[in-house]
Amino acid sequence: MEAIVAVFSDWGIGSAGTQQVVLRADRKHFRELTEGAAVLVGRRTMEDFPGGKPLKGRHNIVLSRQSLDIPGAEVVHSEEEAVLAAEAHDRCLIIGGASVYRRMLPWVDTVHLTQIDLRPVSDSFFPDLDADPDWVCSECGPWLEEENIHYRFCTYRRRISKE
Ligand SMILES: NC(=O)c1ccc[n+]([C@@H]2O[C@H](COP(=O)([O-])OP(=O)(O)OC[C@H]3O[C@@H](n4cnc5c(N)ncnc54)[C@H](OP(=O)(O)O)[C@@H]3O)[C@@H](O)[C@H]2O)c1
Repeated sequence: MEAIVAVFSDWGIGSAGTQQVVLRADRKHFRELTEGAAVLVGRRTMEDFPGGKPLKGRHNIVLSRQSLDIPGAEVVHSEEEAVLAAEAHDRCLIIGGASVYRRMLPWVDTVHLTQIDLRPVSDSFFPDLDADPDWVCSECGPWLEEENIHYRFCTYRRRISKE
């Protein structure tokens, strides 16, 4: 599975249930990478989507421990159920939030990461992949700029075990 996330320089990803900074270029990048694929999302992050509804043009798999009926989404109740649901699709990207990234990381081999060169106060964080020997930054594009905010698109990959 893949994950897609925008991180600040301290690996913060959000505060009070939302993203403090959203770049237009990053939205476009997100759309391009997820269009037509399945996306796995936590119930809280889905509530922060426009209208609190699943994303159009993708198969939405929502993780929740509650029995919810969400029109336009498939609801799963555990990590194992999420993996089974994801396996039914050619491509599934984990799109957050913090708890879902953390719980599902063992099944992820590629992370599409937008680095945003800011450090607002966050209460939600992505695991620090630079500090994790299982992960390597395989590609990093040039620094770009939008409204005086610097950002770049990187790809992290899980190192292949030599066992
Ligand atoms: N920067 C980015 O790219 C990015 C992307 C996405 C989100 N975010 C940020 O991340 C923050 C939200 O993260 P969060 O951790 O608070 O919420 P979350 O991960 O979006 O959702 C948490 C909810 O998911 C369900 N859940 C999680 N793990 C589960 C499991 N193993 N089994 C069953 N259900 C499970 C539970 O729902 P129930 O309570 O219904 O049981 C839980 O309360 C926000 O600030 C958001 O803006 C940032």
